[in-house]
Amino acid sequence: MKILFVCLGNICRSPLAEGILRKLAPKLEIDSAGTSNFHIGSQPDYRMIETARNRDIDISGLSARQFKTNDFDYFDKIVVMDAANYKDVMSLAKTELQKDKVIFALENDEDVPDPYFGGKQGFEKVYHLLFNSCQQILDSIEKR
Ligand code: 4NP
Repeated sequence: MKILFVCLGNICRSPLAEGILRKLAPKLEIDSAGTSNFHIGSQPDYRMIETARNRDIDISGLSARQFKTNDFDYFDKIVVMDAANYKDVMSLAKTELQKDKVIFALENDEDVPDPYFGGKQGFEKVYHLLFNSCQQILDSIEKR
């Protein structure tokens, strides 16, 4: 099973989700990407590196990349963080099979709030939301 997490910049939310799920399920193939080209090649935001490090998760070695249409073919599930990511990713999908791979991280298609322009609390909140989300993703995989 190959899972790709997608956010806008690939420096806050999706790298954290990648780090969390990797720790929970070391055998899965996991990656992350951004819909934008804003931060290509950058390390995750230092505030998110710190948030992860406080839970013994090391995301400092990750490097941001942009989502590409080939990702639809390589990955089994594409997990987006918010409605804008969903719209951007879906606009690149060509087939129903590709569209069916795209799911929201949170239930009821709720947004994982973008913490980039806020304070430390926003990063903590994202950690809790994504930890729960990753556990649910794992449950749904294991039930199949
Ligand atoms: P992310 O957060 O999508 O969770 O990586 C953001 C990072 C950077 C920007 C926006 C969101 N930005 O506008 O540069």
